Amino acid sequence: MTAVSASPGFYRSRLQAPGAVLAPMAGYSDAPLRQLASEQGALWTVSEMISARGLVLGGDTEHLTLGRPFEGETNRVVQLFGADPELLARAVQKVEAWFAPAAIDLNMGCPVPKIRGKGGACLLQTPEVAFELIQAMKGATHLDVSAKIRLGWDQDRSVEVAQGLAAAGANLITVHGRTSAQRYTGEADWDAIAGVAAAVDVPVVGSGDIRSVGQARERQQTGVAAVMIGRGAVGNPWLFRALSTGDDRWPTAQERARTALRHAELQTRFYNDQTGRLTLRPLRKVLPQYLPDHPELRDALVQVVTVEDVERALAPLLGDQVPGHVALDAEYAGSRS
Ligand SMILES: Cc1cc2nc3c(=O)[nH]c(=O)nc-3n(C[C@H](O)[C@H](O)[C@H](O)COP(=O)(O)O)c2cc1C
Repeated sequence: MTAVSASPGFYRSRLQAPGAVLAPMAGYSDAPLRQLASEQGALWTVSEMISARGLVLGGDTEHLTLGRPFEGETNRVVQLFGADPELLARAVQKVEAWFAPAAIDLNMGCPVPKIRGKGGACLLQTPEVAFELIQAMKGATHLDVSAKIRLGWDQDRSVEVAQGLAAAGANLITVHGRTSAQRYTGEADWDAIAGVAAAVDVPVVGSGDIRSVGQARERQQTGVAAVMIGRGAVGNPWLFRALSTGDDRWPTAQERARTALRHAELQTRFYNDQTGRLTLRPLRKVLPQYLPDHPELRDALVQVVTVEDVERALAPLLGDQVPGHVALDAEYAGSRS
């Protein structure tokens, strides 16, 4: 009889390679941003949070843009928020059927008022509810289930919460090194994150304030299984390349402009099939971040509506050929053959 070795699960298998993780960010970590991070070698990416209640009791369908993967997307974790075990279990089943996730994450960190009472960082005040949620989610899927916490509600309870989550069956825990009361002020406490990593035997991913390759490498030494990058990856997917391959090259302005244009094209493709009417308004806050050293382009970039507007705004840097179009055309040609 052949011995069947237990599969290491998604997280442990991805953690065998070097690299960093793209953070879930409502309003940012949508399919186009995830695609750019993934192409540059992110270990995995996490979707924007999705309401379990909306999936189960609302009118959400498999077309929900928050959940829908881009074509061929892999290594994408879907994040849910909620506070009711039965709803979470049913939401996990919907996510698995509709959105092809690699794993499912529970949001325990969102401090936004509308989420309070419905899950998010509130769960840090009643961690026993979160433990039940993890058990219910685990019971509904064979995929890995993880949780993303902050240090606590208004004081650090992270070790106790993480130990309870691990005992409840969480396969991985991500820690954003701030309390909910801190929101995004002050600095993330990486000593506290290291304390959690030392206290549980599931992998711990650390999150908070990584803006450069050097900071990421320093924080990789704290005992975490990997680091997660959020705001620092907006306009800079090359952080993932550097951390997965060691190639620290900062791309030229031309390469960054071409990627910014490609971001706009991916945005058009992803949302256009869905709604038929597109505006690039949500990218106005993102595009200038590709070119912080070109403030003269900012005024035009924060007014774009169409891909042509982006192309016009970036024209001084793009050069003769626009490879964004070439790459997309080649992709379309490939998918037809
Ligand atoms: C605009 C924005 C939206 C966010 N949305 C989520 C979310 O949906 N789920 C979540 O767990 N964390 C969310 N976060 C927290 C991030 O995942 C991350 O933990 C935090 O920003 C710290 O990391 P950073 O300094 O690398 O951005 C969000 C953060 C920002 C700035």
